[in-house]
Amino acid sequence: MKILKKPYYGIYFGDKFYKKLKYFKKKISIKIILVDSLTKKYCLHYFLYKTYLLKKKKIIKISSGEKKKNIETCKIIWKKLIKMNADRNSLFLNLGGGVITDMGAFACSVFKRGINFINIPTTLLSMIDASIGGKTGINFFSLKNEIGLFNFPKKIIIDNNFLKTLSFNEMKSGLSEIIKYGLISDINLWNFLKKSIFFKKKIKYDNNIIYQSIKIKNNIIDKDPIEKGLRKILNFGHTIGHAIESYFIFNLKKLISHGHSIAIGMICESWISYKMKMIKKKEFKEIYNVLSRIYSKIEIYNKDIEKIIYFIKHDKKNENKKIKFSLIKKLGYCLYNIEVDYELIKKSIQNSKIINLI
Ligand SMILES: NC(=O)c1ccc[n+]([C@@H]2O[C@H](COP(=O)([O-])OP(=O)(O)OC[C@H]3O[C@@H](n4cnc5c(N)ncnc54)[C@H](O)[C@@H]3O)[C@@H](O)[C@H]2O)c1
Ligand SMILES: [Zn+2]
Repeated sequence: MKILKKPYYGIYFGDKFYKKLKYFKKKISIKIILVDSLTKKYCLHYFLYKTYLLKKKKIIKISSGEKKKNIETCKIIWKKLIKMNADRNSLFLNLGGGVITDMGAFACSVFKRGINFINIPTTLLSMIDASIGGKTGINFFSLKNEIGLFNFPKKIIIDNNFLKTLSFNEMKSGLSEIIKYGLISDINLWNFLKKSIFFKKKIKYDNNIIYQSIKIKNNIIDKDPIEKGLRKILNFGHTIGHAIESYFIFNLKKLISHGHSIAIGMICESWISYKMKMIKKKEFKEIYNVLSRIYSKIEIYNKDIEKIIYFIKHDKKNENKKIKFSLIKKLGYCLYNIEVDYELIKKSIQNSKIINLI
Protein backbone atom coordinates (compact mmCIF):
# COMPACT_ATOMS: atom_id res chain seq x y z
CA MET A 1 0.00 0.00 0.00
CA LYS A 2 1.68 3.19 -1.15
CA ILE A 3 0.69 6.76 -1.77
CA LEU A 4 2.41 8.97 -4.29
CA LYS A 5 1.76 12.51 -3.15
CA LYS A 6 2.57 15.72 -4.98
CA PRO A 7 4.22 15.97 -7.46
CA TYR A 8 2.37 12.76 -8.14
CA TYR A 9 -1.11 14.29 -8.09
CA GLY A 10 -2.43 12.04 -5.32
CA ILE A 11 -2.16 8.52 -6.62
CA TYR A 12 -3.41 5.91 -4.15
CA PHE A 13 -2.35 2.29 -4.32
CA GLY A 14 -4.26 -0.69 -3.03
CA ASP A 15 -7.86 -1.47 -2.14
CA LYS A 16 -7.64 -0.33 1.50
CA PHE A 17 -7.79 3.30 0.49
CA TYR A 18 -11.36 3.45 -0.68
CA LYS A 19 -12.85 3.93 2.78
CA LYS A 20 -10.31 6.54 3.80
CA LEU A 21 -10.82 8.86 0.89
CA LYS A 22 -12.61 11.91 2.15
CA TYR A 23 -14.14 12.43 -1.28
CA PHE A 24 -16.40 9.45 -0.76
CA LYS A 25 -17.59 10.74 2.62
CA LYS A 26 -17.84 14.43 1.76
CA LYS A 27 -21.19 16.10 1.25
CA ILE A 28 -21.16 16.21 -2.48
CA SER A 29 -24.38 17.03 -4.33
CA ILE A 30 -24.23 14.00 -6.63
CA LYS A 31 -21.65 11.29 -7.19
CA ILE A 32 -21.72 10.18 -10.80
CA ILE A 33 -19.94 7.06 -11.98
CA LEU A 34 -19.09 6.68 -15.67
CA VAL A 35 -18.74 3.06 -16.81
CA ASP A 36 -18.73 1.21 -20.11
CA SER A 37 -20.60 -2.01 -20.79
CA LEU A 38 -17.71 -4.20 -19.57
CA THR A 39 -16.69 -2.18 -16.54
CA LYS A 40 -20.35 -2.12 -15.51
CA LYS A 41 -20.35 -5.90 -15.71
CA TYR A 42 -16.96 -6.61 -14.11
CA CYS A 43 -15.93 -3.64 -11.97
CA LEU A 44 -18.91 -1.61 -10.79
CA HIS A 45 -20.30 -3.90 -8.10
CA TYR A 46 -16.90 -4.41 -6.48
CA PHE A 47 -16.26 -0.64 -6.57
CA LEU A 48 -19.63 0.22 -5.00
CA TYR A 49 -19.07 -2.37 -2.29
CA LYS A 50 -15.59 -1.04 -1.49
CA THR A 51 -16.63 2.62 -1.42
CA TYR A 52 -19.97 2.21 0.37
CA LEU A 53 -21.54 4.11 -2.49
CA LEU A 54 -24.24 1.51 -3.04
CA LYS A 55 -27.13 3.90 -2.42
CA LYS A 56 -25.74 7.34 -3.04
CA LYS A 57 -24.76 7.36 -6.68
CA LYS A 58 -25.89 7.83 -10.24
CA ILE A 59 -24.52 5.70 -13.05
CA ILE A 60 -23.86 6.71 -16.64
CA LYS A 61 -23.21 3.73 -18.88
CA ILE A 62 -21.83 3.96 -22.40
CA SER A 63 -20.84 1.27 -24.93
CA SER A 64 -17.23 0.14 -24.70
CA GLY A 65 -14.52 0.70 -27.31
CA GLU A 66 -12.32 3.31 -28.95
CA LYS A 67 -14.97 4.06 -31.59
CA LYS A 68 -17.18 5.53 -28.88
CA LYS A 69 -14.54 8.02 -27.73
CA ASN A 70 -16.18 10.87 -29.61
CA ILE A 71 -18.29 13.98 -29.35
CA GLU A 72 -21.55 12.02 -29.81
CA THR A 73 -20.87 10.03 -26.63
CA CYS A 74 -19.93 13.26 -24.84
CA LYS A 75 -23.31 14.70 -25.84
CA ILE A 76 -24.99 11.68 -24.24
CA ILE A 77 -22.97 12.24 -21.05
CA TRP A 78 -23.73 16.00 -20.96
CA LYS A 79 -27.46 15.43 -21.51
CA LYS A 80 -27.51 12.92 -18.65
CA LEU A 81 -25.60 15.32 -16.39
CA ILE A 82 -28.18 18.03 -17.09
CA LYS A 83 -31.06 15.64 -16.37
CA MET A 84 -29.39 14.66 -13.08
CA ASN A 85 -29.01 18.33 -12.15
CA ALA A 86 -25.27 17.88 -11.82
CA ASP A 87 -23.45 21.01 -10.71
CA ARG A 88 -19.97 22.14 -9.76
CA ASN A 89 -20.34 20.39 -6.38
CA SER A 90 -20.88 17.07 -8.06
CA LEU A 91 -18.13 14.49 -8.22
CA PHE A 92 -17.47 12.50 -11.39
CA LEU A 93 -15.85 9.08 -11.09
CA ASN A 94 -14.30 7.51 -14.18
CA LEU A 95 -14.36 3.75 -13.69
CA GLY A 96 -12.77 2.09 -16.70
CA GLY A 97 -9.94 1.86 -19.18
CA GLY A 98 -8.25 4.67 -21.10
CA VAL A 99 -11.34 5.39 -23.17
CA ILE A 100 -13.40 6.09 -20.05
CA THR A 101 -10.67 8.06 -18.24
CA ASP A 102 -9.79 10.16 -21.32
CA MET A 103 -13.36 10.88 -22.39
CA GLY A 104 -14.95 11.07 -18.92
CA ALA A 105 -12.27 13.49 -17.78
CA PHE A 106 -12.80 15.61 -20.89
CA ALA A 107 -16.60 15.59 -20.65
CA CYS A 108 -16.66 16.70 -17.01
CA SER A 109 -13.78 19.18 -17.42
CA VAL A 110 -15.84 21.30 -19.80
CA PHE A 111 -19.29 20.71 -18.25
CA LYS A 112 -20.29 23.94 -16.47
CA ARG A 113 -16.61 24.91 -16.93
CA GLY A 114 -15.46 21.94 -14.92
CA ILE A 115 -16.53 19.54 -12.20
CA ASN A 116 -14.11 17.53 -10.05
CA PHE A 117 -13.25 14.04 -11.10
CA ILE A 118 -11.43 10.97 -9.82
CA ASN A 119 -9.94 8.29 -12.06
CA ILE A 120 -10.28 4.65 -11.10
CA PRO A 121 -8.46 2.85 -13.93
CA THR A 122 -9.49 -0.75 -14.57
CA THR A 123 -7.12 -1.80 -17.39
CA LEU A 124 -3.36 -2.25 -17.08
CA LEU A 125 -2.88 0.42 -19.75
CA SER A 126 -4.99 2.99 -17.94
CA MET A 127 -3.36 2.18 -14.56
CA ILE A 128 0.17 2.77 -15.78
CA ASP A 129 -0.53 5.42 -18.40
CA ALA A 130 -3.88 6.79 -19.54
CA SER A 131 -5.34 7.76 -16.13
CA ILE A 132 -2.12 9.52 -15.09
CA GLY A 133 -0.82 12.86 -16.28
CA GLY A 134 -3.84 15.03 -16.94
CA LYS A 135 -4.35 14.47 -20.66
CA THR A 136 -8.06 14.34 -21.43
CA GLY A 137 -9.67 14.10 -24.82
CA ILE A 138 -11.70 12.53 -27.57
CA ASN A 139 -11.16 11.50 -31.19
CA PHE A 140 -12.53 13.83 -33.84
CA PHE A 141 -12.70 13.65 -37.62
CA SER A 142 -10.92 10.25 -37.47
CA LEU A 143 -7.97 11.85 -35.64
CA LYS A 144 -6.87 10.45 -32.27
CA ASN A 145 -7.32 12.72 -29.25
CA GLU A 146 -7.72 15.74 -31.53
CA ILE A 147 -9.99 17.60 -29.09
CA GLY A 148 -9.02 17.82 -25.44
CA LEU A 149 -7.32 19.68 -22.65
CA PHE A 150 -4.90 19.17 -19.81
CA ASN A 151 -6.75 18.81 -16.50
CA PHE A 152 -5.59 16.71 -13.57
CA PRO A 153 -7.91 14.46 -11.58
CA LYS A 154 -8.41 15.14 -7.87
CA LYS A 155 -7.29 11.60 -7.11
CA ILE A 156 -6.31 8.40 -8.89
CA ILE A 157 -6.94 5.03 -7.29
CA ILE A 158 -4.83 2.12 -8.49
CA ASP A 159 -6.37 -1.20 -7.53
CA ASN A 160 -4.92 -4.13 -9.44
CA ASN A 161 -7.82 -6.38 -8.33
CA PHE A 162 -9.58 -5.04 -11.42
CA LEU A 163 -7.04 -6.82 -13.62
CA LYS A 164 -8.48 -10.24 -12.67
CA THR A 165 -11.17 -9.96 -15.33
CA LEU A 166 -9.07 -8.28 -18.03
CA SER A 167 -8.42 -10.30 -21.20
CA PHE A 168 -4.93 -11.51 -22.16
CA ASN A 169 -5.03 -9.23 -25.19
CA GLU A 170 -5.74 -6.16 -23.08
CA MET A 171 -2.94 -7.12 -20.65
CA LYS A 172 -0.59 -7.28 -23.65
CA SER A 173 -1.82 -3.85 -24.68
CA GLY A 174 -0.74 -2.41 -21.32
CA LEU A 175 2.60 -4.20 -21.46
CA SER A 176 3.42 -2.27 -24.64
CA GLU A 177 3.45 1.05 -22.72
CA ILE A 178 5.59 -0.50 -19.94
CA ILE A 179 8.08 -1.61 -22.63
CA LYS A 180 8.00 1.98 -23.94
CA TYR A 181 8.98 3.29 -20.48
CA GLY A 182 11.97 0.94 -20.49
CA LEU A 183 13.05 2.00 -23.97
CA ILE A 184 12.76 5.74 -23.37
CA SER A 185 14.11 6.06 -19.87
CA ASP A 186 14.98 2.94 -17.90
CA ILE A 187 17.49 0.44 -19.26
CA ASN A 188 17.06 -1.81 -16.18
CA LEU A 189 13.33 -2.07 -16.79
CA TRP A 190 13.99 -2.81 -20.48
CA ASN A 191 16.53 -5.55 -19.59
CA PHE A 192 14.12 -7.09 -17.07
CA LEU A 193 11.27 -7.17 -19.61
CA LYS A 194 13.56 -8.45 -22.38
CA LYS A 195 14.76 -11.38 -20.23
CA SER A 196 11.24 -12.21 -19.04
CA ILE A 197 9.94 -12.23 -22.62
CA PHE A 198 12.86 -14.22 -24.08
CA PHE A 199 12.79 -16.84 -21.33
CA LYS A 200 8.98 -16.88 -21.30
CA LYS A 201 8.91 -15.94 -17.62
CA LYS A 202 5.52 -14.74 -16.46
CA ILE A 203 5.53 -11.01 -15.74
CA LYS A 204 3.72 -10.36 -12.45
CA TYR A 205 1.59 -7.25 -12.72
CA ASP A 206 1.80 -6.53 -9.02
CA ASN A 207 1.93 -3.10 -7.43
CA ASN A 208 5.73 -3.02 -7.94
CA ILE A 209 5.77 -2.96 -11.73
CA ILE A 210 2.72 -0.68 -11.82
CA TYR A 211 4.30 1.67 -9.26
CA GLN A 212 7.62 1.69 -11.15
CA SER A 213 5.87 2.52 -14.44
CA ILE A 214 3.82 5.35 -12.92
CA LYS A 215 6.95 6.76 -11.29
CA ILE A 216 8.72 6.92 -14.67
CA LYS A 217 5.78 8.76 -16.25
CA ASN A 218 5.43 11.12 -13.29
CA ASN A 219 9.10 12.03 -13.20
CA ILE A 220 8.75 13.19 -16.79
CA ILE A 221 5.43 15.00 -16.26
CA ASP A 222 6.77 16.71 -13.18
CA LYS A 223 9.46 18.37 -15.31
CA ASP A 224 7.10 19.23 -18.18
CA PRO A 225 3.40 19.02 -17.20
CA ILE A 226 1.89 20.37 -20.42
CA GLU A 227 4.22 18.90 -23.02
CA LYS A 228 6.32 21.88 -24.00
CA GLY A 229 9.37 19.65 -24.47
CA LEU A 230 10.56 16.62 -22.51
CA ARG A 231 7.08 15.10 -22.07
CA LYS A 232 7.09 14.44 -25.83
CA ILE A 233 9.34 11.42 -25.23
CA LEU A 234 6.27 9.63 -23.84
CA ASN A 235 5.03 9.70 -27.43
CA PHE A 236 7.77 7.38 -28.66
CA GLY A 237 6.07 4.82 -30.93
CA HIS A 238 2.92 6.96 -31.04
CA THR A 239 3.50 9.01 -34.22
CA ILE A 240 3.26 5.92 -36.40
CA GLY A 241 1.33 3.92 -33.75
CA HIS A 242 -1.55 6.40 -33.51
CA ALA A 243 -1.71 6.59 -37.32
CA ILE A 244 -2.00 2.79 -37.52
CA GLU A 245 -4.62 2.75 -34.76
CA SER A 246 -6.68 5.42 -36.57
CA TYR A 247 -6.31 3.65 -39.93
CA PHE A 248 -7.54 0.35 -38.44
CA ILE A 249 -10.43 1.79 -36.48
CA PHE A 250 -11.69 4.47 -38.87
CA ASN A 251 -10.68 3.14 -42.34
CA LEU A 252 -10.63 -0.64 -42.03
CA LYS A 253 -13.28 -0.65 -39.26
CA LYS A 254 -11.24 -3.36 -37.54
CA LEU A 255 -10.36 -3.66 -33.89
CA ILE A 256 -6.77 -3.19 -32.78
CA SER A 257 -5.70 -2.41 -29.24
CA HIS A 258 -3.89 0.84 -28.46
CA GLY A 259 -0.88 -1.07 -27.14
CA HIS A 260 -0.65 -3.31 -30.21
CA SER A 261 -0.59 -0.25 -32.50
CA ILE A 262 2.07 1.39 -30.33
CA ALA A 263 4.21 -1.77 -30.41
CA ILE A 264 4.12 -1.68 -34.23
CA GLY A 265 4.88 2.06 -34.05
CA MET A 266 7.87 1.41 -31.76
CA ILE A 267 9.32 -1.09 -34.26
CA CYS A 268 8.95 1.34 -37.20
CA GLU A 269 10.28 4.30 -35.22
CA SER A 270 13.27 2.29 -33.90
CA TRP A 271 14.04 1.39 -37.52
CA ILE A 272 14.03 5.13 -38.32
CA SER A 273 16.46 5.68 -35.38
CA TYR A 274 18.72 2.98 -36.82
CA LYS A 275 18.59 4.46 -40.34
CA MET A 276 19.35 7.92 -38.91
CA LYS A 277 22.38 6.38 -37.15
CA MET A 278 20.97 7.11 -33.70
CA ILE A 279 21.04 3.45 -32.62
CA LYS A 280 23.04 0.47 -33.83
CA LYS A 281 21.61 -2.34 -35.95
CA LYS A 282 22.11 -4.70 -32.98
CA GLU A 283 19.93 -2.48 -30.79
CA PHE A 284 17.21 -2.25 -33.42
CA LYS A 285 17.23 -6.06 -33.77
CA GLU A 286 16.96 -6.47 -30.01
CA ILE A 287 13.86 -4.23 -29.95
CA TYR A 288 12.35 -6.00 -32.96
CA ASN A 289 12.97 -9.46 -31.48
CA VAL A 290 11.35 -8.60 -28.16
CA LEU A 291 8.29 -6.86 -29.59
CA SER A 292 7.66 -9.33 -32.41
CA ARG A 293 7.54 -12.17 -29.87
CA ILE A 294 4.50 -10.64 -28.22
CA TYR A 295 2.69 -8.65 -30.87
CA SER A 296 1.36 -10.25 -34.03
CA LYS A 297 1.87 -9.01 -37.58
CA ILE A 298 -0.73 -6.70 -39.06
CA GLU A 299 -1.91 -6.38 -42.64
CA ILE A 300 -2.12 -3.08 -44.47
CA TYR A 301 -3.19 -2.43 -48.05
CA ASN A 302 -0.22 -1.10 -50.04
CA LYS A 303 -2.52 1.44 -51.67
CA ASP A 304 -3.38 2.83 -48.22
CA ILE A 305 0.09 3.93 -47.11
CA GLU A 306 -0.83 7.53 -48.00
CA LYS A 307 -3.82 7.30 -45.65
CA ILE A 308 -1.46 6.39 -42.82
CA ILE A 309 0.87 9.24 -43.77
CA TYR A 310 -2.16 11.59 -43.68
CA PHE A 311 -2.72 10.68 -40.03
CA ILE A 312 1.01 11.15 -39.30
CA LYS A 313 0.89 14.62 -40.85
CA HIS A 314 -1.77 15.53 -38.27
CA ASP A 315 0.26 14.37 -35.28
CA LYS A 316 0.22 16.87 -32.42
CA LYS A 317 4.03 16.99 -32.15
CA ASN A 318 4.46 18.43 -35.65
CA GLU A 319 5.50 22.05 -36.01
CA ASN A 320 5.34 24.34 -39.05
CA LYS A 321 4.21 21.45 -41.24
CA LYS A 322 7.37 19.52 -40.31
CA ILE A 323 6.92 15.97 -39.07
CA LYS A 324 8.58 15.66 -35.67
CA PHE A 325 9.30 12.38 -33.89
CA SER A 326 10.45 11.26 -30.46
CA LEU A 327 13.22 8.77 -31.22
CA ILE A 328 15.46 6.64 -29.04
CA LYS A 329 19.16 7.52 -29.07
CA LYS A 330 20.13 4.39 -27.16
CA LEU A 331 18.26 1.77 -25.15
CA GLY A 332 16.77 3.64 -22.19
CA TYR A 333 17.20 7.13 -23.63
CA CYS A 334 14.99 9.16 -25.95
CA LEU A 335 15.23 12.49 -27.81
CA TYR A 336 12.33 14.61 -29.02
CA ASN A 337 11.55 17.13 -31.80
CA ILE A 338 13.51 15.14 -34.38
CA GLU A 339 12.49 16.02 -37.91
CA VAL A 340 12.13 12.94 -40.09
CA ASP A 341 12.07 12.87 -43.84
CA TYR A 342 8.76 11.85 -45.43
CA GLU A 343 10.38 9.10 -47.56
CA LEU A 344 12.07 7.53 -44.52
CA ILE A 345 8.74 7.38 -42.69
CA LYS A 346 7.18 5.64 -45.68
CA LYS A 347 10.07 3.17 -45.90
CA SER A 348 9.81 2.37 -42.18
CA ILE A 349 6.28 1.13 -42.84
CA GLN A 350 7.10 -0.59 -46.16
CA ASN A 351 10.23 -2.34 -44.80
CA SER A 352 8.83 -3.32 -41.44
CA LYS A 353 8.68 -7.07 -41.03
CA ILE A 354 5.81 -6.66 -38.56
CA ILE A 355 3.60 -5.17 -41.28
CA ASN A 356 2.42 -7.31 -44.20
CA LEU A 357 1.69 -5.12 -47.19
CA ILE A 358 -1.06 -6.72 -49.23
N1 LIG B 1 -4.42 10.26 -21.55
C1 LIG B 1 -3.30 9.61 -21.77
O1 LIG B 1 -2.22 10.05 -21.36
C2 LIG B 1 -3.34 8.30 -22.50
C3 LIG B 1 -2.22 7.47 -22.52
C4 LIG B 1 -2.32 6.24 -23.16
C5 LIG B 1 -3.50 5.86 -23.78
N2 LIG B 1 -4.56 6.71 -23.77
C6 LIG B 1 -5.82 6.32 -24.41
O2 LIG B 1 -6.33 5.19 -23.72
C7 LIG B 1 -7.17 4.45 -24.61
C8 LIG B 1 -6.83 2.99 -24.50
O3 LIG B 1 -7.09 2.56 -23.18
P1 LIG B 1 -7.45 1.05 -22.85
O4 LIG B 1 -6.50 0.16 -23.52
O5 LIG B 1 -7.62 0.96 -21.38
O6 LIG B 1 -8.81 0.87 -23.65
P2 LIG B 1 -10.36 0.70 -23.22
O7 LIG B 1 -10.77 1.72 -22.25
O8 LIG B 1 -11.10 0.62 -24.49
O9 LIG B 1 -10.37 -0.72 -22.49
C9 LIG B 1 -10.11 -1.89 -23.22
C10 LIG B 1 -11.26 -2.90 -23.10
O10 LIG B 1 -11.22 -3.48 -21.80
C11 LIG B 1 -12.52 -3.41 -21.20
N3 LIG B 1 -12.30 -3.38 -19.75
C12 LIG B 1 -11.89 -2.32 -19.00
N4 LIG B 1 -11.64 -2.73 -17.74
C13 LIG B 1 -11.92 -4.05 -17.68
C14 LIG B 1 -11.83 -5.02 -16.66
N5 LIG B 1 -11.35 -4.73 -15.44
N6 LIG B 1 -12.20 -6.29 -16.94
C15 LIG B 1 -12.64 -6.63 -18.19
N7 LIG B 1 -12.71 -5.76 -19.21
C16 LIG B 1 -12.36 -4.48 -18.96
C17 LIG B 1 -13.15 -2.19 -21.80
O11 LIG B 1 -14.55 -2.24 -21.72
C18 LIG B 1 -12.64 -2.27 -23.24
O12 LIG B 1 -13.44 -3.15 -23.98
C19 LIG B 1 -6.93 5.01 -26.00
O13 LIG B 1 -8.02 5.80 -26.36
C20 LIG B 1 -5.69 5.87 -25.84
O14 LIG B 1 -5.67 6.94 -26.75
C21 LIG B 1 -4.51 7.91 -23.14
ZN1 LIG C 1 -0.17 5.28 -25.57
